[in-house]
Amino acid sequence: MKAVYCTAYGTPGVLKMVEIPKPIPRANELLIRIHATAVNSGDVRIRKADPWAVRLFFGLSKPRKPVLGGVFSGEVVEVGSAVSKYKAGDVVFGSTGMEFGAYAEFKTLAEAATITFKPESLSHLEAAIIPFGAMTALDFIRKANIRPGQKVLVYGASGAVGSAAVQLAKFYGAEVTAVCSGANMELMQKIGADKVLNYQREDLALNKEQYDVIYEAVNQLGFSESIRHLKKGGILILGAADFSKMIRAGFARMAGKKVITGVIKESAEGMEFVRELIDQGKYQPVLDRVYTLDQIAEAHEYVDLGHKKGNVGIEVITNS
Ligand SMILES: NC(=O)c1ccc[n+]([C@@H]2O[C@H](COP(=O)([O-])OP(=O)(O)OC[C@H]3O[C@@H](n4cnc5c(N)ncnc54)[C@H](OP(=O)(O)O)[C@@H]3O)[C@@H](O)[C@H]2O)c1
Repeated sequence: MKAVYCTAYGTPGVLKMVEIPKPIPRANELLIRIHATAVNSGDVRIRKADPWAVRLFFGLSKPRKPVLGGVFSGEVVEVGSAVSKYKAGDVVFGSTGMEFGAYAEFKTLAEAATITFKPESLSHLEAAIIPFGAMTALDFIRKANIRPGQKVLVYGASGAVGSAAVQLAKFYGAEVTAVCSGANMELMQKIGADKVLNYQREDLALNKEQYDVIYEAVNQLGFSESIRHLKKGGILILGAADFSKMIRAGFARMAGKKVITGVIKESAEGMEFVRELIDQGKYQPVLDRVYTLDQIAEAHEYVDLGHKKGNVGIEVITNS
């Protein structure tokens, strides 16, 4: 089968198309023909080894698992003897988690992995771009226990995670303020934000409002600035904290502030929850540019710029 290897850490040029054997499912696994995948910020972080500590977990000189790609939508083509929930012909979408491997024509995954049936209303491309942002935002938002009427601010609201956080906070009944650049303000209204602030115009600095929950999705808002906008007893979610922010989060917790950070946990239950929201018209994909698997290096170049809207789709099968 065709797959894309990440041959070293570095620029998008390290991504090379290769031919490798098609995987064979074990007893508890599905073999999935991938129709579409996405270029997540997570793929880019690993390709660039950013932060450096990526090397400690994924391989010192190059990724031990050379096929990146953490999300997919596709069709089950074979199932192992112990699989009961899925059968050949089922159409599924989900996350490959730390296994990666979705930049390829086929992928095997355990039946219990972070997958579920694809919503009929979405194309494969639209479905594939959902799990990364949705699973990340859902985990943090559930931990913050957002309640109806609470004021929630999402900073970095136009990315994959931010656009998911806006929609999920709305679902839980919050009044949502989205912070993005001027170019994305209309998009924020389209996905349900009640108020939109433009970080390029210093709207937030001038804004005296305080929030029950602040979801800082892109690590661009200063720590003190975040705390300044929190109500007494409010919760700060640091979805993309670097080492120094984690240290500050620790001190803030000792001073009685509620700060949620760390690595998210995703699940099939979470995917089913999001699929139901999609079926009810309460969650929509935010699809930016689309590339083919052969153009994956170009797609990474675009994501490297740091300004994608929602997520970038990759067609593994044309017109997915
Ligand atoms: N904790 C975890 O387990 C976990 C899991 C998944 C992801 N993450 C992290 O979450 C972060 C966000 O991921 P993502 O996929 O959503 O990223 P992304 O889609 O690549 O983010 C791009 C967005 O960031 C916005 N942005 C860029 N500079 C900004 C600024 N100065 N102020 C406000 N917004 C700005 C851009 O909006 P404009 O074009 O409008 O500027 C763009 O829409 C990443 O750092 C990722 O590593 C953490």
